[in-house]
Order: sequence, then structure tokens, then C-alpha cells
Amino acid sequence: MRFGYFDDKSREYVITTPKTPYPWINYLGSENFFALVSHRAGGYCFYRDARLRRLMRYRYNNVPTDVGGRYFYINDGGEVWNPSFAPTKTALDSFECRHGLGYTRITSERKGVRASLLMFVPQGHTAEVHELRIKNTSAGPKSLKVFSFIEWCLWNAYDDMTNYQRNFSTGEVEIERGGSTIYHKTEYRERRDHYAFYNVNAPVAGFDTDRETFFGLYNDWSAPDVALKGVSSKSVASGWSPIASHGLDVQLAPGEEKTFVFTLGYVEVPRADKWEKPGVINKKPAHALIEKFSTPEQVAAAMKQLADHWSKLLSNYSIESTDEKLNRTVNIWNPYQCMVTFNMSRSASYFETGIGRGMGFRDSNQDLLGFVHLVPERARERIIDIASTQFPDGSAYHQYQPLTKRGNNDVGSGFNDDPLWLIFGVAAYIRETGDYGILDEQVPFDNDPKTKTTLFEHLKRSFNYTLNNLGPHGLPLIGRADWNDCLNLNCFSETPDESFQTTGNKTGRTAESVFIAGMFVGVAPDYAFLAEKLGFADEAKKARGESSKMSETILKHGWDGEWFLRAYDFFGNKVGSKENKESQIFIEPQGFCVMAGVGVEGGQAKKALDSVKERLDTKYGIVLNNPPYSEYHVELGEISSYPQGYKENAGIFCHNNPWVIIAETMIGRGDRAFDYWKKIAPAYLEEQSEVHRLEPYVYAQMIAGKDAVRHGEAKNSWLTGTAAWNFVAISQYLLGVRPDFDGLRVHPCMGGEVSKFTVTRKCRGAEYRINVKNSGKGGAPTLTVDGQPIAGDLVPYAKAGATVIVDCEV
Ligand code: GLC
Ligand code: GLC
Repeated sequence: MRFGYFDDKSREYVITTPKTPYPWINYLGSENFFALVSHRAGGYCFYRDARLRRLMRYRYNNVPTDVGGRYFYINDGGEVWNPSFAPTKTALDSFECRHGLGYTRITSERKGVRASLLMFVPQGHTAEVHELRIKNTSAGPKSLKVFSFIEWCLWNAYDDMTNYQRNFSTGEVEIERGGSTIYHKTEYRERRDHYAFYNVNAPVAGFDTDRETFFGLYNDWSAPDVALKGVSSKSVASGWSPIASHGLDVQLAPGEEKTFVFTLGYVEVPRADKWEKPGVINKKPAHALIEKFSTPEQVAAAMKQLADHWSKLLSNYSIESTDEKLNRTVNIWNPYQCMVTFNMSRSASYFETGIGRGMGFRDSNQDLLGFVHLVPERARERIIDIASTQFPDGSAYHQYQPLTKRGNNDVGSGFNDDPLWLIFGVAAYIRETGDYGILDEQVPFDNDPKTKTTLFEHLKRSFNYTLNNLGPHGLPLIGRADWNDCLNLNCFSETPDESFQTTGNKTGRTAESVFIAGMFVGVAPDYAFLAEKLGFADEAKKARGESSKMSETILKHGWDGEWFLRAYDFFGNKVGSKENKESQIFIEPQGFCVMAGVGVEGGQAKKALDSVKERLDTKYGIVLNNPPYSEYHVELGEISSYPQGYKENAGIFCHNNPWVIIAETMIGRGDRAFDYWKKIAPAYLEEQSEVHRLEPYVYAQMIAGKDAVRHGEAKNSWLTGTAAWNFVAISQYLLGVRPDFDGLRVHPCMGGEVSKFTVTRKCRGAEYRINVKNSGKGGAPTLTVDGQPIAGDLVPYAKAGATVIVDCEV
């Protein structure tokens, strides 16, 4: 069942009912100012840090769900409704929400009044703009009372929802231009140099800034006193909960339309200029921002700028084929999600509250993979930030805070896969850009300027960290966990309230990870290549040697007969083996070892992937492990804490499905790879939205596995490494166009379903148009470049500005 449709021409998903199976959201903003907006106008915005600089209050885990947003109440002859349906839920004659790239437009109609609300963050500005158009579609005149409404968060979102003894006394506002501009200045009197405002570009009949006055203490969101009465109270907040509401009298002749522009902005003021006069904030920066977006023409120009920006970004990789679901995934929604994931890391979504974790070392390096072709300069910056949180021994803080860029001490380090992800990220960046200069950048350890050394030296420490931390079988020690945060082989936790990951009570050097071993073999060729490039031939040689040794070790101690083992636990027992009662097989090592090429020649790779198919594949994707753990195992940790079929305990953890997809292409099985890819690609799940429940335009982290009660139901949409990895799988391996160090590799492996397609790829300033005739047989492609046949699958990079035509038969 569908709840909307894709409008690919406009690059929008159009939701046609307010009653989707879960709030379906979008993100606004791409640099410093961000907002989450649901199809019912719910959500909030923040400046840079979702915890510390939150502008709007939002209530997670509330009943009903999705409470708090940008609401407009329309009183039409005593009946009150919202264009966004919420919060009054008054029946509408029509409803439509269009989520586009960086904007959302909700249009609805009731009894001869059509309201259209556009929300977006203009490029380069720290504000949400709301353009509200109201049209009289009836035969008679209309006299409407319209009330805007937002509720301020008192900046620190954690404090805002916990510290009421203080909060209820700190709220302060200022009101200007008769109520057209409302300022939120809580805590500005002391240490804050920032305030927020909500402005409308028209004279108002009234305003409100005190929540209790607007609603009435015992009313809920659907029946605010002010909107029901149709008259603003001109309340001035003093403590409690400050809000901003404009009251507008809107008279409309038949057919007439009026447009209002609201700006919800954030400004910082230099400390010396904070005040206009004692107690009165300096409003100059706010006025300047308001000026920029006070007419519909300015709004249209800013929207055009946004659309052009996205057209340019998305033109770096695009495809034309007969499969429209494939096209929309590759051309629009997957890269869009990659951008959001890069910006947000795992901080703010409808499943992440924005007050929890910082940026992950591992997560950010993976997010890069799907983002680097969009804005490489920002990927470069991110790499330097990440590497600066590494320790001299090559290990790394698991997380860091975006506002300070400092490592996070609560979580610390000891996740032994982390260092290797840095090599992944840097290699992807250099492949895209050819910027080897980044390897010479001076980068500190743990942000201590005294320890600055080259980025290449960081990579070396990363690589050697693994070698310096091998266990009894010669496999890498796992530490607190590897990619799977929940496989905690050294943290025997029996006390509630302690973290599964950071309870470091076992310091033994026994628990080993076959996954990290696969990663090590996977990154070694890139590391060796870069070392050689810089003239470190010995280091390159050593890396290659260690890598073949590790391959052998995997085949000797990490092979279970039909698939790769997952790990050895603290006691030296196998994890992920046919000898185990439960969880005999895990997905991660099958994907990563084969991606690294381990066992491809000897046939183990094929066996491992066949075992995945047989034991882990389901109708809705590949589960993480099987059979799930049915009880808690203290020596395994959090993985065995989840009920069967959810999260890391045999959920379909979409993040690692693309590893198997890529692995299948490594052994030439394009049909199976493409099938796996379609199973979790959101556009292909649209018809099953009542089962899947989440947005059909973005990936979710997890879909409940075959052992779960709710098999097929997704959770945790948007902020997941799934976005980047699936983009890598489809763009670089299935469609087969991937930047390599010395040229663009063209090697599709898709199976036969899509018999021809064209990929347009911009890379290093040149444009490649790659026309593929795809027989589906796989194998080596035959290529011509500008009409000339070439040997192999590597198209040499052309000069910047060139357009190159590649014909490919496979
Ligand atoms: C979450 C984490 C990621 C981890 C994964 C598996 O997605 O953000 O770092 O690898 O879960 O546990
Ligand atoms: C929990 C989740 C895992 C996530 C981790 C982040 O362990 O199960 O998916 O990566 O928290 O700390």
C-alpha cells in the first residue's frame, strides 16, 4: 500500500494523506542551520548543534507522536483547522505534502480556502523561511483569522527537558513592530551572544509570546484558546514557556490569494555590541536577515538558488535507464540521504534525539564514501577533523563533538576497527580528487598541536595499530567492539545502567575479530599504493606482505568450512561457527572478507556467499546473524540483549547488506547482487509501506528480521551508514563506474534485468558519458573511449573541461 508517489521531475516525494504509518520527514539546511520537518509540519531547527543550540522545542516519545512544529491555525467562521492537519486534525478536503531537496511544501484545502505552506532554509543563512499562501477558492468573500505558532526551546535541549526548577523562571522575549517581530532572548542577559526571532512581513492584528495564554493551561494542542476565540491576547512571556505567535486578519475576495513570509532566524552578536540600550537587545543583525526574505520574489529567488545548487551536485553522478525506481534512487534520493547523513552524522532524526552521541569516527569515515563526489572540499575538512582525534598509537576516540571537534571522553577509544576506517575514507577522497597533497597535511594527535605530523603518518599508525594488536591466532584483537557495536567480547556486563561498550572489565588479549582481519586485507592495497606514491617503498612492501599473511591466517583460523567465522571470544571459543548452538553465521565477515578478495581464488568466497543466501537471506533483506540469540550471554554482550530479530540480534541491519552485494559482484554474480540491492532499496518498497512503515524515499538502519514478530517493519530511518554503502554498491559496483587512483574504472555487474543504461559521471573536472549495453552475462567489459577501443576496464582521466564518450559492452 502506498501513501503517496514519487514526482521525479520535481525531485519530490508527494505524500497524499496526513495519516502515513509513521511521521515521514525531511531535512532543511546544508551548512550551519538545520531543520527536521515532518509531513505534518512537526519537528525543530537548530544552529550547528542539535543539543546546545536548539531553537524549537520538540517532544520525543510523546502521545500522540510528532508534537511540536511550525503550526498555522486558520479560524474560518469559528471552525479552526491547520494546513498541516496537525495539531487540530480537523478534516480537510484535500492534503498534499511535497518533500523536496531542502524544502517541504504542504498544501491543503478546506471549505473554499486553500493554504500552501512552503518551508526551507535559504542557502548560506541561519533561518527557516515559511511562506504561507492563502487563497479563497469559494464564490463568496472570506474573513479569516490566522495564527502562526512556534514554541521556543531554551537552547540546551537536554536542560530544556529536565531542569524545570530553573527553566520556568528564565524565559524572556522582546516584541517589535507591533508584534510582527518576536524575539526570543532567554539567557542573553548573561553568557549567550545569540538570540532567535520569528517575523512576519505584514502588520499583525495581535501576537502572543506566552504559551499558557495562547493555549489555556488545560487545553491541548488541538484547541488553543486564542485560535478558537480568533483573537490574539498580546501576552508577554515572563518565565514559563515562551512562544511566538502572530495573529493575522485575512480578508479575501473570491479567487483572491495573499502571501505571507515568515522568517524564523538565529543570529549571533559580537559581545561588545550585544545591547541597543540597557536590557534591549541589538536587533541590527536580525533586521538584516529579515530584509533578505521579506517578499515572495526574494523567496522565489532563494528557492531557485537551492534548486540550482542541487542540480549541480546531483549532476556529478546520474543514470538514465528504463527502470525508474533505479533512476530515482541513484539520481535523487540516495545522494540526498548521503548529504543529510554527512551533515548530521547520527545526531538528530526522529530516532536520534540530538542530545545523545557525537560524531562517530567510524561512522563519519563511512559517510564520506557516499558524499565525497558531491562536495569533496567538505570531505577533506572532515578527514582532518577526524584524524585530529586519533591517538599516537593509532587508536582513536570513538566519537567527537562537532562544536568543539574534541574527542569524547565518556566513550573513549578501544573500538579496534576505528583506525582502519581512516584509511578507507582517505583513499576514497584521493580516488575522487587526485589530491595526494592531503597526505602531507600537518595533523595533530588528540588535538594537541605539539604532536602535529603528516596525515600519511596517521594512516601508518592506523595500519600498524592492527599489526601491534594481534591475538593468539594472529587475528586482530577486537577491543570493546568492532563495526558491530554490540559484539562486546571484553565487557562482561551484569549490572543494569552501565554501558555495554565501555565497561572495560576484561583486559585480556584473547578476543579476536575476523571482520577486522578482512578489513585489514581490504585496505592494505590502498595503503600500500599511497605509501609507494610517497616514495616509501619499504612500507608498501611490508604492507603487502602483512596483507597476504593475514589472508592466510583468515583462511586457516577464520574459516569454518562453509563460511567465515565471526570472532574468537575472551575464552578462545569460536563465535559464528557451526559448532555454536545459536548465531552460527554472521553477515559481516562474509561481506568484508570477500570484498577484500579473501578466498576468491580458492572457492571459499563463493561458498561463504552461498551460505549467506541459504541461511541469512529473507524476503526483506539479509539478516545479520542466524539463528538469533535467545538468551543473554555475558561474554557476548549487547548483541544478545535484543529480542530475536531486532537490531544487531538478527535484524536486517541494512548497513551491511551492501557489503554482500559488492562481494557478489566480486565473484561476478550480478543477478543476485541486484536482487539483494532491490530488496532494501526504499523506492522498491513503496508498495509495502504499510509493512515497512518508514519513508519510502530513504533507507532505514534496520528492518525487523525473520525471527521478529514484526518481520519487515523498519526503524531508524535517515541517519545510517546504509546510505553511503548502498550508494557505493549501486554506483560503483552494480552500475560499475568508480573512480580509481589513475582512471575511471568502468566495470558493470548488474545481471540481465536492465539491458542498457547511460551513466554520466563528473570527476576531476571532466565529464564522462558512459553508454552501457548489458547482456547480463557479466565478465570483463569491452570498452571504447571516444571511439577508440581500449584494453582493460580503466578509462584514463581526461583533462578538466573535457567530455569523454565511453561505450561499454558487457
Ligand atoms: C550503528 C552505529 C555504527 C555501528 C552499527 C552496528 O549504526 O552508528 O557505528 O557500526 O550501529 O552496531
Ligand atoms: C546500540 C545500538 C547500535 C548503536 C550503538 C551506538 O548499541 O544497538 O546499533 O551503534 O548503540 O552507541
